[in-house]
Amino acid sequence: MLLLQQTGAVLALTVAVRGAASSTTTSIQLTQSLLPQVGAAPSLTPTIHDSKAPDPQTCPGYMAANVVETPQGVTADLTLAGPHCQAFGTDIHDLVLQVQYQAKERLSVKIYPKYLSVQNETHYILPNFIVPSPENDNSTTKSKSDLGFEWSNTPTFQFKVSRVSNKEELFSTYGHVLVYEDQFLELVSNMVEDYNVYGLAENIHDFHLGQNYTQTFWTNDAGITSGNPIDGNIYGVHPFYQESRYHSGSNTSSHGVYARNAHGQEWLLRPKTITYRAIGGSFDFYFLSGQDDNGGSSAVDTIRQYHAGCVGLPAMQMFWTLGLHQCRLGYDNLSMMQDVVANYKAANIPLEAIWSDFDMFDGYRSFVNNPVSYPVDKMAAWLEKLHDDSQYYVPLIWTNIYRTNPEDPEDVYPPYQRGADLQTFIRNPATGDYYNGDNWPGFSVWGDFLLQSSYSWWENELRTWHNKIPFDGVLSDLSEPASYCVGSCGDGNLHLNPVHVPELMPGDLLNNDYEYPKGFSISNKSDAASASLAAASQSSALLSSTPFPSATSTTLGRTEPTPGVRNLTYPPYVLNNAQEGHALVKGTISPDATHNDPGNTTEYEMHNLFGYQTGNATYHALLEILPNRRPFAISRAAFSGSGRFSSHWGGDNSATWGSMFLGISHSLTHMMAGIPMFGVDACGYTHNTDFDLCSRWMSLTAFFPFYRNHNIKGTIPQEAYIWSSVAEASRRAISVRYSLLNYIYTLFYQAHTKGDTVMRALAWEFPNDETLKATYSQFMLGPSLLVTPVLTPNSDTVRGVFPGIGEGTRWYDWYTLQEVNAQPRENVTLAAPLEHINVHARGGSIFVLQEPGYTTAATRDNSFSLLATLDNNQYAEGIIYIDDGVSLVQNATKTVSFIYENGAIIASTHGTYHAPPALANFTIAGLHTEPRGFQFRSNNKLYHSRPGNLNYKNGTAYITGLEQYTSTGAFEHSFQLNLTY
Ligand SMILES: *[C@@H]1O[C@H](CO)[C@@H](O)[C@H](O)[C@H]1NC(C)=O
Ligand SMILES: *[C@@H]1O[C@H](CO)[C@@H](O)[C@H](O)[C@H]1NC(C)=O
Ligand SMILES: *[C@@H]1O[C@H](CO)[C@@H](O)[C@H](O)[C@H]1NC(C)=O
Repeated sequence: MLLLQQTGAVLALTVAVRGAASSTTTSIQLTQSLLPQVGAAPSLTPTIHDSKAPDPQTCPGYMAANVVETPQGVTADLTLAGPHCQAFGTDIHDLVLQVQYQAKERLSVKIYPKYLSVQNETHYILPNFIVPSPENDNSTTKSKSDLGFEWSNTPTFQFKVSRVSNKEELFSTYGHVLVYEDQFLELVSNMVEDYNVYGLAENIHDFHLGQNYTQTFWTNDAGITSGNPIDGNIYGVHPFYQESRYHSGSNTSSHGVYARNAHGQEWLLRPKTITYRAIGGSFDFYFLSGQDDNGGSSAVDTIRQYHAGCVGLPAMQMFWTLGLHQCRLGYDNLSMMQDVVANYKAANIPLEAIWSDFDMFDGYRSFVNNPVSYPVDKMAAWLEKLHDDSQYYVPLIWTNIYRTNPEDPEDVYPPYQRGADLQTFIRNPATGDYYNGDNWPGFSVWGDFLLQSSYSWWENELRTWHNKIPFDGVLSDLSEPASYCVGSCGDGNLHLNPVHVPELMPGDLLNNDYEYPKGFSISNKSDAASASLAAASQSSALLSSTPFPSATSTTLGRTEPTPGVRNLTYPPYVLNNAQEGHALVKGTISPDATHNDPGNTTEYEMHNLFGYQTGNATYHALLEILPNRRPFAISRAAFSGSGRFSSHWGGDNSATWGSMFLGISHSLTHMMAGIPMFGVDACGYTHNTDFDLCSRWMSLTAFFPFYRNHNIKGTIPQEAYIWSSVAEASRRAISVRYSLLNYIYTLFYQAHTKGDTVMRALAWEFPNDETLKATYSQFMLGPSLLVTPVLTPNSDTVRGVFPGIGEGTRWYDWYTLQEVNAQPRENVTLAAPLEHINVHARGGSIFVLQEPGYTTAATRDNSFSLLATLDNNQYAEGIIYIDDGVSLVQNATKTVSFIYENGAIIASTHGTYHAPPALANFTIAGLHTEPRGFQFRSNNKLYHSRPGNLNYKNGTAYITGLEQYTSTGAFEHSFQLNLTY
């Protein structure tokens, strides 16, 4: 096996030691030779910031002709209504309009070039085989549609979509021209005053997007060491928004818009308008009415319609994936990782899964263990033990594939060789050879997932590795895809491989992170002082001798469109790409790189789909490797519909209070995007965390769907056992989470079967309260739990609202079951000690709880209990779904629905899945009168309460001892329990 040290280059760096008279010399020992200087991309002015950029609204627009209106929809020809304007491309003269009433709640409007194959006019329209189009039900006609379509030719073609029931205009291009060029599309919709728009994931932004925001879509590895850029394009592209309209506090309405186009694009949210711009593709809009069968519309139904009708329902997860996951970049060897698992156990903090970042790779190469630090035989033996303890292992894989050095016969990397044998990599059109970008392992290539052979190659690599290291899921990283040089920089340089990427990376010497969260200087005064000294000395050392001089940077003026020629690398319209200098060639495979399909499709068209496709390939590979197990596949880059096969995490967040807060909106937008298995790295990925932030963050993300602590190399450790407050906060929050695993799992099942959300915005659950429209400092987990996290340093209280109070809603403290006394819309101050997170149960709910164990498997073996938190009418209801927690296709399932009314709970079971644990307790909070006893009826038997089995305090009845009646399994039979008075 090749070790990389042999090619090591030594750089002498002068480290100026603060205060010292002389300086000492330190060497950076790089394990790889340096990348030869490659050109930096020129700096561009994003069009949205370019005051000299043309205004596409001065273009002539189109006129409709040959209009055919049928009950099923409208078709027409659109013809350019004047001279070419060449705003950011060459105008397409002839277009087609196709409008379909696809379903009662969904109307589609497509506009695309009439001649797709005319010379000089190449148009890439997103094919169904990559991203399926929403399907026409072939039975809805205009008269049955919730939505109406109107158009006009005065002064040029324009259209509007309205809600039929109240003629409310939802989307309207009236007063604006349509622009359709070979590298630029624009459409402007009029919006109501102060509109409320949400979604357009992925972004690090307020939940309520506001009216002064531009969402750029170009998948981007932006955060390596600095963290996710606020308001910048990052990993995911989900061109879907949901809009809410408040009508004086009642009958709030909602609708949605999905633009199925994977090209680079921007959504300009401005007062009174939204402008949609894309650098290719077609207008492929789906308007969702958000209406249910009763005619009312809601955010929740809009989101369901997007999932169920447009992009597909999300994959169901395995039960164990809801446990706590620990990852870190910096577990240098197997024994460090083993220690982490042991330390969690010793601290009695439940740990479900341990993860590897790329530390275990040999030479940063996916699918290959380092023989010294992560030897395969030792690792496999340990995984067997881990699995025996009902714990799991999840490694990271990269989508880049190291390309071996052609001059070094000992440089062997079978995953590359096997892919090369199939010719399954993306190419550089200038050479015809593979595109040689750069990533951690050195010059690298990428699979071409337009080829079927890439899927089998990918599966084979995963299988070959899994045969040695039986992992339980995988995270595919850097799938934007990330490349750290400009262009095919390995061309002519492959003999230098392996090369170091052209900048200091986490873990390199002189690359320690000394940043700490706000408030650290107060809570950790002396540590803060020494960190700032160390930071200063490191940065002066780096300044005095930087190993990676940056390439001279030039500025590129606006690219003028040339008829017949698309400029793929520097398109005339400049997206506000968050990479430095903004060029699309930065940080990724160049847009002019080509695929091996018959049309040699370019990355210009495919860029935003790479993570979607590798996510799809990984899901199906796992399904083959672990048959009939729901794949646990996480992808960093994503596109609309990725949730069908991939989960997602928030990428490179940072250990700051602001990053923790924005993680909530980040998560809510992914619920909208149909990726319910979402979480952000607890305690922050980049930068150092501290006990205060990390305690709060471990508590907070215990209520996110996906719960993982992860950080980068070069920072301090942050496992939950490092600080006593973090350990205690984690134990308490995990205990709540694990007791609720069946509740959370049921939410996932409802997401998977109906398009429901797991984590929820207050605005979704309380749609008529306009004061909640921008709230994300609090959120709900499912319909029944309100979470009010502390989001500021050095706090011992937190403020939050209790929605619905005064209108029939009651809230109960999760821990004490005491009812909240608050005024409607009062911002209540709650005690929030460092180790405590405020969680409240909504009146009207029935929860199925299970005694938390150390693992989810242990929890599943523990007894069940029920908790009813009553509403004003002494009513509550709930439901759970249970199955084996693993199988894609289940042999048996069980659904139990619960209703509490008139002093009795009825549990109705459906299905044959057998869950052995008994039902132990039943707790009822919010009772108006004290009961004296109870009767329990099940399987044609009647039992009466015995002394001591019913206690009552402050409106809460505590029933115990039910296990004697339910020893064959809590939900083996339907049952009824009556309180007696
Ligand atoms: C509607 O018709 C189209 C075209 O024939 C077909 O592809 C599609 O599957 C049909 N949809 C349904 C729901 O049957
Ligand atoms: C809009 O946002 C930009 C920067 O994001 C800011 O400079 C500008 O002041 C904002 N405009 C308004 C009207 O808020
Ligand atoms: C294609 O481009 C060439 C030159 O670039 C031009 O002369 C020709 O007219 C174009 N053809 C069409 C159909 O636009």
